[in-house]
Amino acid sequence: MSLGRTNMLSFRCMTHEDIPFGVYLSRQAGWNQTAADWHRFLALEPAGCFVAEWDGQPAGTTALCVFGSIAWIAMVLVEESLRRRGIGTALLEHALAWLEARGVATARLDATPLGQPIYQRLGFVPEYEVGRWEGIATASERVLGIRPIAPGDIPAIVALDAQATGTPRHRLLEYLLERHPSEGYTFGQPPAGYATGRPGAKAWHIGPIVAQAAEIGMALADARLAQHPGQPVFIDIPLDHAAACAWASSRGFRLQRRWTRMVRGPLVNEVHLWLWASSGPEAG
Ligand SMILES: CC(C)(COP(=O)(O)OP(=O)(O)OC[C@H]1O[C@@H](n2cnc3c(N)ncnc32)[C@H](O)[C@@H]1OP(=O)(O)O)[C@@H](O)C(=O)NCCC(=O)NCCS
Repeated sequence: MSLGRTNMLSFRCMTHEDIPFGVYLSRQAGWNQTAADWHRFLALEPAGCFVAEWDGQPAGTTALCVFGSIAWIAMVLVEESLRRRGIGTALLEHALAWLEARGVATARLDATPLGQPIYQRLGFVPEYEVGRWEGIATASERVLGIRPIAPGDIPAIVALDAQATGTPRHRLLEYLLERHPSEGYTFGQPPAGYATGRPGAKAWHIGPIVAQAAEIGMALADARLAQHPGQPVFIDIPLDHAAACAWASSRGFRLQRRWTRMVRGPLVNEVHLWLWASSGPEAG
């Protein structure tokens, strides 16, 4: 007689020893994150990155990042051979309970088609679509006034970003600008826009880019491309941002995939037209 068997699902905090597993899962899914990205998730939210274990073996991940009353949920990944048995849903439930215990009102994420039905069942609603544009960087002439970010610009850039995104993302921005100082550009004094980026497993990730006017966004994005001529580049743009999408298209970029930006809880007050490019699907 078969007694049957119940598989055990459990959760624990991620540690630096789990980074190779995180890299393995993101590669398996064909994503662009590197080990450095996983290090950033752990540095920004050491108690909010989780590993799901199935019968004691690592099976899935998620990485949260809390900015005041707003959290981003990222890296929801389940090992391919263990999907469709409830691990992804349980990971999200675990993440939401952790956020609720900390009184975080709003959770946001960029959903893939595989993830969207799960999030919808857990109370997330769609906000807008974000497209990933892929292309090869080309150098264009630098626009007058575009300059590298100096350390003294950072407080004003952080304030501009908070105004644009409705989210106090200073920890993320400081981390990115500190680690990749040569990738940051700004325009104006005080800054009316900024752009940065980081290397990825498949392509340079360009973003976030925030700009108070379309011409500034365009010039900043061109300045970023000019830094990596001939190299593959990804840039994530809200698909209703006509000027930014037109810019990407005019630079020979093609729309590779799309996400649905979703929210659970009170909406965040963004200045949508200032969001030229997302920091990536991990933090909007
Ligand atoms: C998205 C992802 C994390 C989901 O993980 P998962 O463990 O398969 O998720 P679940 O098992 O909870 O749910 C997946 C489906 O299986 C179904 N399911 C859950 N338990 C089941 C069971 N015991 N038997 C049959 N089906 C089951 C769910 O109803 C769901 O169905 P749906 O797709 O029609 O909504 C996983 O597919 C993945 O890693 N994808 C690649 C990366 C990705 O896209 N991540 C999302 C980022 S936003």
